[in-house]
Amino acid sequence: MIEAVGKNVQAFKAGDAVFAQCGLRFGGYAEYTCLPVNELIAIKPANMSFEEAAAVPVGGLTALRFLKQSGVKTGSRVLIYGASGSVGSFAVQIAKAMGAEVTAASSRSNTPLVTKLGADKTIDYTNHDFTKTTDRFDVIFDAVGKTSKAACRHLLNPGGKFVTVKSNPEKNTGDLLQLKELIESGKLISVIDRRYSLEQIREAHAYVESFRKKGNVVINVIPPEVL
Ligand SMILES: NC(=O)c1ccc[n+]([C@@H]2O[C@H](COP(=O)([O-])OP(=O)(O)OC[C@H]3O[C@@H](n4cnc5c(N)ncnc54)[C@H](OP(=O)(O)O)[C@@H]3O)[C@@H](O)[C@H]2O)c1
Repeated sequence: MIEAVGKNVQAFKAGDAVFAQCGLRFGGYAEYTCLPVNELIAIKPANMSFEEAAAVPVGGLTALRFLKQSGVKTGSRVLIYGASGSVGSFAVQIAKAMGAEVTAASSRSNTPLVTKLGADKTIDYTNHDFTKTTDRFDVIFDAVGKTSKAACRHLLNPGGKFVTVKSNPEKNTGDLLQLKELIESGKLISVIDRRYSLEQIREAHAYVESFRKKGNVVINVIPPEVL
C-alpha cells in the first residue's frame, strides 16, 4: 500500500494498493520501503490478495521475460524443466496463455500441481530421464537451473531455443503490467506453498533453501488480517 508519494509522482497516490519487485538489496523485509516510480511497481491486480500478489513479481517477471525472449507463440511446443517451483509454476501458465503446448517436468508428487496449472503433458524427471523423451520442442526453459543446453540440444526442433534461469535478463514494468492483465483475465494465479510471519523468517529461509518448495513462500510482515 502506498503511504506517500514524491511531489512529481503522478502514476500513484497515497492509499493505492501496489505490487512490486524491490530488487536485490537490504530492506526487503521492512514494513516500509522507498521505490523510484519508474522501478518494477504497478497497481496490484484487483482479484488478488496482498499475499498472492507479493508472490508474483520475482517468479512471474522471470518466467515472462524468458518465454518472450525465446519467441514462444501459438502452437509452440514448450518444455518447462522445474515446472513446480516459483519460476516454473508461472512459466507453465504463461506459456499456455501464449498458446503453447506445454510439457512440464517435475517430480511425481508435483504432477497434479503442474497439471492443474495447465500442462498438456507431464514428465516425472525422478523416474524418467527427461532427456530420453522422443518428443521434440521449439523451446526448452530450464526454470530451476539444473540442466544444460548440452544435455537438451537433441530435444530441440531445428531453430529451437534453450533458455535458462542461470542468465539474468533485464526486467521491465511493461512485463509487470502484462502479468497484471493475465491475472485479471483469470489466466495466471500464484501458487503459495507456505506463509510465515516475520518472526519465523529463519524457518522460511531454511525451507526455501531446501529447494523443495512448490511455487512460492510468502512472508507476512504485517499479519494479513490487519491489512
Ligand atoms: N535469472 C533470474 O532473473 C532469476 C530470477 C528468479 C530466480 N532465479 C533462479 O531460478 C532458480 C529457480 O528459482 P525458484 O524460486 O523458481 O526455485 P524454487 O521455487 O526454489 O524451485 C523449487 C523446485 O525446484 C525443483 N527442483 C529441485 N531440485 C531439482 C532438480 N535437481 N531438478 C529439477 N527440479 C528440481 C523442485 O520441484 P520438484 O520436486 O517437482 O522437482 C522444487 O519444487 C533459482 O536458482 C533462482 O536463483 C533466477
